[in-house]
Amino acid sequence: MNTPKRYTITAALPYTNGPVHIGHLAGVYVPADIYARFQRLKGNDVAYICGSDEHGVPITIKAKKEGVTPQQVVDKYHAMIKDSFKEFGISFDNYSRTSAKIHHDTASEFFKKLYDEGKFIEETNQQLYDAEANQFLADRFVVGTCPKCGFEESYGDQCENCGTSHNATDLINPKSAITGNTPSLKETKHWFLPLDQYEPFLKEWILEGHKEDWKPNVYGQVKSWVDDGLRPRAVTRDLDWGIPVPVEGGEGKVLYVWFDAPIGYISSTKEWAAEKGIDWEPYWKDKDTKLLHFIGKDNIVFHCIIFPSMLKAEGSYVLPENVPANEFLNLEGNKISTSKNWAVWLHEYLVDFPEKQDVLRYTLTANAPESKDNDFTWKDFQARNNNELVAIFGNFINRVVVLTNKYYDGQVPSPATFTDIDEDTLGSLKKYPQIISKSIERYRFREALVELMNLARLGNKYLADEEPWKVIKTDPERVQTILFVALQIASGLAILCEPFLPFTSKKLKNILRHSELDGLASWDTIKTANGLLPAGHQIGKGELLFAKIEDAEVQQQLDKLQASKQANEAANKTVAPQKDTIEFDDFTKLDMRVGTILEATKVPKTKKLLQLKVDVGIDTRTIVSGIAESFSPEEIIGQRVTVLCNLAPRKLRGVESQGMILMTDTPDGKLAFIEPENESVANGEQVS
Ligand code: 2FM
Ligand code: ZN
Repeated sequence: MNTPKRYTITAALPYTNGPVHIGHLAGVYVPADIYARFQRLKGNDVAYICGSDEHGVPITIKAKKEGVTPQQVVDKYHAMIKDSFKEFGISFDNYSRTSAKIHHDTASEFFKKLYDEGKFIEETNQQLYDAEANQFLADRFVVGTCPKCGFEESYGDQCENCGTSHNATDLINPKSAITGNTPSLKETKHWFLPLDQYEPFLKEWILEGHKEDWKPNVYGQVKSWVDDGLRPRAVTRDLDWGIPVPVEGGEGKVLYVWFDAPIGYISSTKEWAAEKGIDWEPYWKDKDTKLLHFIGKDNIVFHCIIFPSMLKAEGSYVLPENVPANEFLNLEGNKISTSKNWAVWLHEYLVDFPEKQDVLRYTLTANAPESKDNDFTWKDFQARNNNELVAIFGNFINRVVVLTNKYYDGQVPSPATFTDIDEDTLGSLKKYPQIISKSIERYRFREALVELMNLARLGNKYLADEEPWKVIKTDPERVQTILFVALQIASGLAILCEPFLPFTSKKLKNILRHSELDGLASWDTIKTANGLLPAGHQIGKGELLFAKIEDAEVQQQLDKLQASKQANEAANKTVAPQKDTIEFDDFTKLDMRVGTILEATKVPKTKKLLQLKVDVGIDTRTIVSGIAESFSPEEIIGQRVTVLCNLAPRKLRGVESQGMILMTDTPDGKLAFIEPENESVANGEQVS
């Protein structure tokens, strides 16, 4: 076995201003988890590190909105996020938080060291200021037009449209996110990291050194920023939520959240090491350590330019070997949005689909936005479960386990002579660890998952071709060999699926009683062993690995999304301002009555008009109404309505209309009737 390598694997620290959704999972946490689990299975020394990002403006904004303190906001979401990651099987070695003392100390020391060594530029200049809110405007407190792409809702530090990171004063037409006012300029002192000085280093290290091995989306973004020229970036802010600037003149100021957050990876490692009683430093300072940052594409600039420049400035740290950033995941064709509640929230998924963590892990990996944005749909989720996990993986395992129990009381049979097909099948099995490893090592998790399923397909095909259930009647000895081979594939699947489907792997290893094999069945032994499960080994009874997902379960999720959409549309709809005041006498002039539509026909050559016969209690009259785009004539016969009866008659397309049906708008742009809630209200009753 090779000497174990040391891996420090970080997953972007989630902001604690809301729960985690499937976009976060697909972009960062699932791929990083696959990678960390894989490296552990290979026998490597892994520190898989994460924690809550608890500073920054979004948290302050959330607290203001909810009338609570920022600490209350982060406490709530930290607990929620941490618990849901755990239940979802994300195998962090440590999940810390940036409000922890160890983090405040680590980030302060880091800043202090750079300050003492003169690595910052100290500058007093003009920053955006909101006089009404009595506050400087940085980061998400200010919105304006991006100087690079023209997007009108860019934040002060980063444009969400083109990903560019800039200074708030670069924004065109800035507006305060607190009051909506146009900010003024006010002098204030800050410390800047002179990124321009790190350009030669970044060019050599990334542009020359990682052209081949970094993902094209990551390399391309970095190249474009470096080619555009880098400028000094302020690493302090005039805010009251964050880590106080630990140097003279820093009173009332805090570290920029993107200065402190990545240091969170270091402090979380320290916390973990202290708990284990080991030294944290090799995980960050030994040149043989492989440091990897798993992130979403909006974090590239911070992990490839700013944080490495900070590490370089400090001088004693290793640099990341790779930053495998993913693109974004959309949901049912639309961008995932926390504010619009257009998301599948992890904590809700875990309630709605208990024991189905692996199904979501599988779908998100099969559909991962590795090289371009991708879409999650509930139909695809259902299909991946029913047609792949149930029909291929689950079906194979079920057949092998049931037949072994039926024919041999659960004992792995002794094989007789291997045929060419048996040899080929066992030979193919031995190649899978290498095939899957290669894809994982290159951060191609979708490809790796396809290969895993190909192994299950191989098992199914083998059984379908060899038909042990038929052969048992004519050649029982042959069936011993067939099931022996099939059991080896099942055992290989139990090991190889662990990074992707950890809950399934555990169940399957339990069924196959791997724990009784003295560690002989492992990722690396698959390639040598003709028998991972030796003849005579006792396996357990079958257990369903995957259950079918019914249409109703999927429909329920789609309905939930639809409800979110409608609530959003309603909330965003601009309500028309109130009209001029009228006197009570004006109101009493209106004769509004309850009626019933008796007949309806389309007015020829019009798109909008229906000609109606309406019983309004006093008479039955003709009314022409512009509702044809919302209703067909047939569906409104018998409809209860409210009618303005004493509106002066007027001719519409040659038909005299003797009143008006009162209508209102629905969120999806259709019309709706105003009808009495109580069915017993008679036609002709007045509305007052
Ligand atoms: O984009 C985000 O959600 C950030 N909270 C990620 C921080 S990653 C790290 F540097 F801490
Ligand atoms: Zn932009």
